[in-house]
Amino acid sequence: MPTPPAPKRAEILPDVKNIVAVASGKGGVGKTTVSVNLAVSLAKQGAAVGLLDADIYGPNVPLMMGARAQPKARGQKILPLENHNVKLMSLGLIAGENAPIIWRGPIVGKMIQQFMIDVIWGALDYLVVDLPPGTGDAQLTLAQTVPLAGAVIVTTPQKVALEDVHRSIEMFHKVEVPMLGIIENMSYFSCPCCGDRTPLFGADGGRQIADAFGLPLLGQIPIQPDICERGDAGMPIALDGDHVFAEIAACVVEALRERESDLPEIAIV
Ligand SMILES: Nc1ncnc2c1ncn2[C@@H]1O[C@H](COP(=O)(O)OP(=O)(O)O)[C@@H](O)[C@H]1O
Ligand SMILES: [Mg+2]
Repeated sequence: MPTPPAPKRAEILPDVKNIVAVASGKGGVGKTTVSVNLAVSLAKQGAAVGLLDADIYGPNVPLMMGARAQPKARGQKILPLENHNVKLMSLGLIAGENAPIIWRGPIVGKMIQQFMIDVIWGALDYLVVDLPPGTGDAQLTLAQTVPLAGAVIVTTPQKVALEDVHRSIEMFHKVEVPMLGIIENMSYFSCPCCGDRTPLFGADGGRQIADAFGLPLLGQIPIQPDICERGDAGMPIALDGDHVFAEIAACVVEALRERESDLPEIAIV
């Protein structure tokens, strides 16, 4: 039997209003922490939200979202899980959290396409996509498979991380994905006794790169032990509401709105 033609880019996920990629140049900068807390914050603000774990090699979304069940099939399609009011899908749910994942580039691309096409996401205001670090197949496939509303880049403040951010910004620019802004994570540690802020990894690197590229700095997240503990427990800190992540989510929504108003209007002649 001949394989059916691949759906066109604009026909994939027509009921998803905004697909937002969360990217980083480096691993370990807090991309999954940001993705998960951004998704939860948006859901708390009343939006219909999905979270796709596209970090095929290090799928940590199930752990941080407290989701363990095996996704169920409906016909030829897969139903996403739902936790904390967020629909989610991850290879970690299918392969198991500890399975070594050793696929090569083309398979990574295929897998990401399938998570877009074969998962019943339904109508969503936002689909947050947690990308692997760097500028590889996953990023390119995503940009080429679906129209992305925009990308945010997570970085830590120090110089080495910022070098990689340059590369990520350039890559999104090449594939014509709008940049929504920079999120600086691990910006400082507040002393629990006196509240003094210590910038452990240097100060304001995220702001410098945002300024250099003319992008908004969408937020600065402190190093806070309970961000890590709550992630490990599958109960993201954004569930509490009153946190920097709520402000970051509002900034992302605003950046998306501004980008929308920048789009050319269709002139009727
Ligand atoms: N602001 C923060 N404060 C404390 N721990 C954090 C913070 N951001 C991330 N972490 C922890 O650092 C580790 C790496 O974060 P993660 O989100 O998995 O990074 P990435 O997805 O970029 O590899 C995790 O254990 C996470 O809980
Ligand atoms: Mg991650």
